Amino acid sequence: MENVEDIKSVEDYFGTMDVWSIYHRVVTANNLSHREIYTDVARVLSELEDEFSFLDLGCGDATYSAPILVNLPITYYCGVDLSATALELAEKNLSLLACPVELHKIDLLQALQNTKRQYDVIFSSFAIHHLSYEEKSYFFQSVIKRLSKNGILLLVDAMREENEDLPTYLQRYCYHIRNEWQGIRPEEKELVCCHVMENDFVETASTLEFMAKQAGFSSCQNVSKYSAHQVIVLKNHLGL
Ligand SMILES: C[S@@+](CC[C@H](N)C(=O)[O-])C[C@H]1O[C@@H](n2cnc3c(N)ncnc32)[C@H](O)[C@@H]1O
Repeated sequence: MENVEDIKSVEDYFGTMDVWSIYHRVVTANNLSHREIYTDVARVLSELEDEFSFLDLGCGDATYSAPILVNLPITYYCGVDLSATALELAEKNLSLLACPVELHKIDLLQALQNTKRQYDVIFSSFAIHHLSYEEKSYFFQSVIKRLSKNGILLLVDAMREENEDLPTYLQRYCYHIRNEWQGIRPEEKELVCCHVMENDFVETASTLEFMAKQAGFSSCQNVSKYSAHQVIVLKNHLGL
């Protein structure tokens, strides 16, 4: 695994708190719609015509991706994340896969820049909202270069409503966390809200589609939407 000391992981933000314990409880209580979303992700992947290689950008602990990939014709898995703790857990979860697995502690944009491989599926779930607008544009430009001829970008993330500005979205999302989220304590909710207010640069679906098309993607399919949490598929070839 590579070291990127100058880039802050979420653990730097939360300090000594057991951030993965909080995230695990958030996800287990389905606050981010993982159950529905990963059912949709499995369906999209099962509809691919061929076996596929898979790059997971911001893979986290792979709690949800590993069990769906184990039933699919995956030839190679590469996961990248900034969190050493997440990657240690991911290594255990991904040991279920029969294909070669590589994990790297590296910034996802840097990983896209470094790799010489082409991937059939590039996947990112709840990670790119941490990137600035310019970084997101660069993300799409970098991803398209690393996709194989019939490759897809499968993107899961929080997205703002069309015509909703970022401050309004952040207020609404934090209200939702404080009032609707299950599985974590009120003081943990406040930490999450601080993290969201300072680090989430959430775009609308149409802004992400605009950036993707500027980068050369030819089609964008909105697969599903669960409140603010959405799944989209982008292709760089015609014929969805
Ligand atoms: C909310 S978690 C999502 C984890 C998993 N993909 C999921 O859907 O549950 C976001 C993950 O992205 C990672 N991350 C955030 N920014 C990143 C970056 N610039 N490069 C690599 N990983 C990043 C974090 O360390 C964290 O593990």
